[in-house]
Amino acid sequence: MCGIVAYTGPGDAVPILTEGLARLEYRGYDSAGLAVVGRSGDLRVRKAEGRVAALAASLPARFKGGTGIGHTRWATHGEPSDDNAHPHVAGSVAVVHNGIIENADELRAKLEADGVVLTSDTDTEVLPHLIARSDAAELEDAVREALSQIVGTYGIAVVDTRHPGVLVVARNGSPVVLGIGEKEMYAASDVAALVRYTRQVVHLDDGELATIRPDGFRTSTLDARTTRKEPSVIETEDAAYDAEGYTHFMRKEIHEQPAAVERALRGRLDGRFHTAHLGGLDLDPREARAIRRVKILGCGSAYYAGQVGAQLIEELARIPADAEPASEFRYRNPVVEADTLYIAVSQSGETYDTLAAVQELRRKGGRVLGVVNAVGSAIARECDGGVYLHAGPEIAVASTKAYTSTAVVFALLALHLGRIHDLSPADGRRIAEGLRALPGQIEEILRQEDRIAALAADLAKYRSMLFVGRVRGWPVAREGAQKLKEVSYIHAEAYPASELKHGPLALISPDLPAVAIVPDDELLDKNRSTLGEIRARHGRVITIGHTEAGEDAVVVPKNEPELDAILLPIPLQLLAYHAAVALGHDVDKPRNLAKSVTVD
Ligand code: AGP
Repeated sequence: MCGIVAYTGPGDAVPILTEGLARLEYRGYDSAGLAVVGRSGDLRVRKAEGRVAALAASLPARFKGGTGIGHTRWATHGEPSDDNAHPHVAGSVAVVHNGIIENADELRAKLEADGVVLTSDTDTEVLPHLIARSDAAELEDAVREALSQIVGTYGIAVVDTRHPGVLVVARNGSPVVLGIGEKEMYAASDVAALVRYTRQVVHLDDGELATIRPDGFRTSTLDARTTRKEPSVIETEDAAYDAEGYTHFMRKEIHEQPAAVERALRGRLDGRFHTAHLGGLDLDPREARAIRRVKILGCGSAYYAGQVGAQLIEELARIPADAEPASEFRYRNPVVEADTLYIAVSQSGETYDTLAAVQELRRKGGRVLGVVNAVGSAIARECDGGVYLHAGPEIAVASTKAYTSTAVVFALLALHLGRIHDLSPADGRRIAEGLRALPGQIEEILRQEDRIAALAADLAKYRSMLFVGRVRGWPVAREGAQKLKEVSYIHAEAYPASELKHGPLALISPDLPAVAIVPDDELLDKNRSTLGEIRARHGRVITIGHTEAGEDAVVVPKNEPELDAILLPIPLQLLAYHAAVALGHDVDKPRNLAKSVTVD
C-alpha cells in the first residue's frame, strides 16, 4: 500500500526521500512523488505514474531542499496517473497521505463552491486546501484544524514554505513513525525507510500528530494536549532489507526459514518442565486455566496460520479453538465472551481489518493477544499482550517465513497452555523435541528445491489446480492454494479432502491436477482413498507428505504429527515461487496486491 517518507535537516532531502521510497516499494504502488522546500524557500514538486527509479532519474540537478516529503501511491480514489500521484499541493502547502478520507466528496464540493479548482480525482487533495485556508499561526494548528473536518483514516506528512524546516505528521489508522538523527529528523510509514539512517524511532499513536524540526519533535493529540513519547531502538539490521544475492525476496525469505524458526524458539523452551515460556503473554497460570475458548483472528495467510494455531491449541491444550477471518469478524457484531482468549495474527501489524477487529474486541471488553512480526506496530500496541515472531522483515508480498514462524509460535503457545492443562510431561517433551528439530528439517526440504522447481515448471502449464487436505492438512492446502494463486496467477482452489465427493469431484479431469497433503498420520488410509478417487477419474495427483513415492511426490521429513502443518507448507511455497518464475511473473510484487493492506 502507499508509503510515506519525510526529512528535515542540514542534508539534501532528495536522495534520502528517493532511497526511502525505494525501500517502501515492496508494499506495492503505482506512482511516486516528492515535494521539497528549496533553500530559497520555494516549493519544488515532482510526481509521476511509474517506478521510483524513473522519478529519481527525471529530477533536475537543481531539485534540492532541506525539508521534504515523498510518497508511493497505491490507487484507491482515482486511477493511477501523474495528476493523482502525491504530493498534493495548495499554494505553499504540500501533503502526502496514506488512508482514505471518507467525506472527501462533501469536502471537495464545499471547496469547489468556494471557487477552489481541484486538479485530481483523489480524496487527498482536499487536505492541502483545508490547511492552506487556515488562519492559524502554526502549521501544526492549521493541520489540526483541517483534520478536525476529516472523516476517515490517515497517515500524513505536510510541508509549508511559510514554515521552513518544519514537518507536520499525523496518524489515524495508518502508521507514522519518526526517526531521530543527529540534528536531523525523519518520518515514514514504515521503519524500512528509516533503518539506513537511524535506529532510534518513535511510533505515533492514532489521534496523534507531531511537529518535527531538525533538532527535535513535539507530539500532541488532535485536541492539542501534549503527549510524551519514549524512543525505541530498531533491532533489525539494514541488510535485512536487501535481497543479498537472491533474485527475489520471496526465495530469500523461504530460505531464511530455518533461522527464523530458530529465532522464534530461542529462549522459549523450558527443558525442566517441558513447556514453553512466552514473556509477553502476561497471563498467569490461574488466568490461563480459566480460558474456556480461544478465537484466532487474521487475514489471508495470517488467518490460515491461525487455523493451524487453533488446531494445535485444541490438540495440545484441549481448549476449544477456532480461527476466523478478522475481515468478517469485525462486521458481524460478534458475541464477546469474558472467558474467551482472542488472538490477533499479523505479520505487518498494520492490516486494517485485523486492527479494526482488535479495536472492536477491546471496546467490548475482550482480552486480545497479538501474534505479530513487526515490533511496535499498531496491532502489537493495541493488544493486551502478545508474542513477537522475530522473523525479521518480510518484504515479498507473499508471506512465507512469517507464516511458518506464526505456526511455530502457536505450537509454543499450545505447549504452554497444554502443560497448564492436561498435556503430560512426556508429551510436552515430545513436542519440544519436535520443535527443536524443525530448523534442520526445513533445511532438508530446501535441499529438494531443484526437484520441486522442475515439478513447478511442469505444473505451470495448467490453468487451474485443486489443493486438498484433511484436518491438519486442510489449512496447509488452503495456504498452498493461496501461495500459488498470489504469485503465479494460476487459479487454485482448496477443499477439505473429505468434501471432494460432495461436489468438486465433478471437476476432476486430466486438466485439473490436485495437490494432496498426505501426512503419515491416523488419516493416511482415508487420504489414500481420496487419491484413488482422483486417479480413477484420470486426475493427476501431486502428493506432499511422508510416505508416497514417485515423480509427483514431495517427501518431507517426519516430525511429531501435531507439528505436521508447520513443515508441509514449505514445498508448497517453493512450488508457487517456481511456477511464478517459470511464468515470468513479478514474484515479489504480484499484480493488484500490496504487502500490507492498511485500508478498509
Ligand atoms: C500472504 O501471502 C498474503 N500476502 C496476505 O494474505 C497476508 O497474509 C494478509 O494480507 C495479512 O497480512 P498481515 O499478516 O500483515 O496482517
